[in-house]
Amino acid sequence: MPEKTFERTLVTSALPYANGYIHLGHIAGAYLPADIFVRYKRQKGEKVLYVGGSDEHGVPVTLTALREGITPKEVIDRYHTANAEAFKRLGISYDIYGRTSWPLHADTTQAFFTRLNDTGYIHEDEMELWYSEHLERFLPDRYVSGTCPKCGYTGANGDECESCGAQYSPHDLVSPRANIPGDDSSPVLRKSKHWFLDLPKFKDRLKAYLDSHPEWRANVRGIAYGWVEDLRSRCITRDTDWGVTIPLDDPEAEGKRIYVWFDAPIGYVTNTRQWGLDVKGDDAAWEPWWKDEATRLIHFIGKDNVPFHAIIFPAVLAGQDGFVLADNVVGNEYLNIFNRKTGKEEKGSKSKGNMISVKWMLEHFAPDIIRYYLCANAPESRDAAFDWDDLLKRYNGEICDVVGNFIHRSLTMTVKNFDGQVPEAGNLDEEDRALLDYLPTQIDAIGGALEDFRFRLALERVIDLGRRANVYFDARQPWVTRKTDLARTGSTLYACCQVVHALCHVLAPFTPDAARTLSAILGIHLPEGGPDGGVDGWNAGKNLLSPGAPLRKPTVLFPKLDKDRIAELAEAHQRGEAF
Ligand code: 2FM
Ligand code: ZN
Repeated sequence: MPEKTFERTLVTSALPYANGYIHLGHIAGAYLPADIFVRYKRQKGEKVLYVGGSDEHGVPVTLTALREGITPKEVIDRYHTANAEAFKRLGISYDIYGRTSWPLHADTTQAFFTRLNDTGYIHEDEMELWYSEHLERFLPDRYVSGTCPKCGYTGANGDECESCGAQYSPHDLVSPRANIPGDDSSPVLRKSKHWFLDLPKFKDRLKAYLDSHPEWRANVRGIAYGWVEDLRSRCITRDTDWGVTIPLDDPEAEGKRIYVWFDAPIGYVTNTRQWGLDVKGDDAAWEPWWKDEATRLIHFIGKDNVPFHAIIFPAVLAGQDGFVLADNVVGNEYLNIFNRKTGKEEKGSKSKGNMISVKWMLEHFAPDIIRYYLCANAPESRDAAFDWDDLLKRYNGEICDVVGNFIHRSLTMTVKNFDGQVPEAGNLDEEDRALLDYLPTQIDAIGGALEDFRFRLALERVIDLGRRANVYFDARQPWVTRKTDLARTGSTLYACCQVVHALCHVLAPFTPDAARTLSAILGIHLPEGGPDGGVDGWNAGKNLLSPGAPLRKPTVLFPKLDKDRIAELAEAHQRGEAF
């Protein structure tokens, strides 16, 4: 089959709940890989739109409000603002960071619901749910807890177990009790009418869809195939007053709302609509991004979100009129935390106090440092762990000592000995030519890894480029030849300047601040690109700087981390102060 050609790429990152600060686990899973991919695509001049935002409905928000004694609106306003700011400072370059509390989102969600209902994909049914006689209300999801019927975990939710991942119907939960402030009574089961998405009706289409994507990561395919073999109707409404209202003329729908997991991914559509209005002033600008076959839709998520993005949302989209389905669902594994005291890796959790917020991290580190480490140690094909010693070792030993050092010594020596200009190429010998020939090959190898969503590998190849260049530099010894043979030194540093130029381009998606500083030193322009596309500034890294091109005095792009300072921060983290 000929490969499909796309005209534009729409990238989404999971919408984090606006009920807490985003942490490094979030970043490593759904945000940094997406941002690197988007920056790379923009740099290539492709048309790319990057959509994100806050997930502001659901039990996570109302429960936080109850626990903190504030309103859900206060919760989402606080965390939406804080998280949007944290993303921005870390350089996660969304084209729009929207909100599911926007009225526009209720409109989009209701249109999706209505279409599914009108075409027979939604049916109603009565179900038995836990009800608090004490509060005279139903207890959805995490409002009730008990013992998991499968594994015996005592902190299991009303319908799923965080410990073993089991999903069950509420009445299978053992020893249920209400789990909200002011109520720990034993709930009773009571009937309530709800609306269900008829997933089995999509089975053949979903199966064919998964079969047509053998290139997806094994983890995502494994989970998705598991689901497709066992499709059941899913309840898409809840007994709550916080969420999108159900667009049905039925008195029983009034005290209920659309389930957060139905409306959240539709947030990607809403936010694209809002982007079209804000940036293009056009309420139809979103449509090609969702309805043109030539759009490549890619979701970046953590692995817990796979069923919703590889099964449920594609079904919801398939039930609409002419929407594209995701061409890839890039699901990452988890970033655990290495505990220095026990020497073991553990899951990040609020109760353990071991999580590291982006906000806290940015108080102590430049964004490029955080980005470098989280990409070099990305949980791509298996879980990874955040480890302070590893951060120190890898950042100092790889990007500082290999890439930063090469750039710095090449530019310092060139500026000093060649009047602040790129030297003449002179008589290039085999060794010089081998290095110059290697540059376009390596740029392609890095680009290839990025196209395959292998971000760790891509970054390793950037470091390899630096390593190869250092070997060349050490062998040619320009600091020795400059006293005896200035022409030879010129040829050496001419070649080194070309490596620096290539590095500037390939660093840009990973460490954008360093790349921007370096581009100013080299006097080049790194095009930013965007939804309308632009020039190819990725392959421009294969061009050569002209002899005589002016260079500025270099600054240190990747300042070394101090061991003692890292030890102090690791201790603060251990004391639970990093969140
Ligand atoms: O797991 C979460 O944090 C969800 N809020 C993710 C939603 S992704 C999408 F569907 F919006
Ligand atoms: Zn369990």
